[in-house]
Amino acid sequence: MSWKAIGIFDSGIGGLTVLKELVRAMPQEDTVYLGDTARVPYGAKSPETVTRYSVEIASFLVKREIKLLVVACNTASAVSLETLQERFPIPIVGVIDPGARRAAAVTRNGKVGVIGTEATIKSSAYTRAIKRMNPAIEVITRACPLFVPLAEEGWTSNEVARLTAQSYLEELKESGVDTLVLGCTHYPLLKEIIAQVMGEKVRLVDSAEETARTVADILRSRELLRPAAEKGNHHYYVTDVPAGFIRVGNRFLGGKLEDVHQVNLEEAVARENSHVQA
Ligand code: DGL
Repeated sequence: MSWKAIGIFDSGIGGLTVLKELVRAMPQEDTVYLGDTARVPYGAKSPETVTRYSVEIASFLVKREIKLLVVACNTASAVSLETLQERFPIPIVGVIDPGARRAAAVTRNGKVGVIGTEATIKSSAYTRAIKRMNPAIEVITRACPLFVPLAEEGWTSNEVARLTAQSYLEELKESGVDTLVLGCTHYPLLKEIIAQVMGEKVRLVDSAEETARTVADILRSRELLRPAAEKGNHHYYVTDVPAGFIRVGNRFLGGKLEDVHQVNLEEAVARENSHVQA
């Protein structure tokens, strides 16, 4: 029996934090990852543009015979998930609902903070998702755009990172939240400094772990999980030259990235569509 891979995409390298959790939860699964490194960041772009990019990427990955698609990018999950779910005939999992579910489950005082990109925070997707799970929870949000370049630069524990975190998180801390959702692929890399600033009583919720659990549950319930004795292979596509992705990605994944290929999405999708029509 041939088993299909899990598809996963992000605006760039950040989604590797989600891939890491998927591989930890299901080491037997093959994965195909696409990082849109030529067009990152998505966090400052309009919902229309992010959705257009996301549809293009999903078309490319769905052609690669995947059995499920993970939208690892919080921004794309926040603004494009419904469109993707309507357009493509496979299960598509975003990171917002899993993160929101976990936050709603762990908060004790009913006050949850959410941090993310400008686009994610502006969409209110986390607030809606948390309130759907428990309308009584108060949600306080804050965009932290500078965390993305800090994480990519590897400045995750120096003075610049600490001062930036303090300035972004001060009000959230004062508001008394007992739970904070790291609503962006890059923020798990700044977990330590965020935890120091927020104090030990505040629980940090990493959407990546919960998303991996959700994916495993869906595949299990559909009997699409590969036998546990198998070992998964991992393929990567990027839309810019691979060098930067490999360098920074190795830090994100904590391993050696191999099998990284550059792809021109527009050409690839147009070529595949003309094949279908011919
Ligand atoms: N991957 C994005 C997210 O999780 C962060 C980087 C970007 O702005 O594209 O929202």
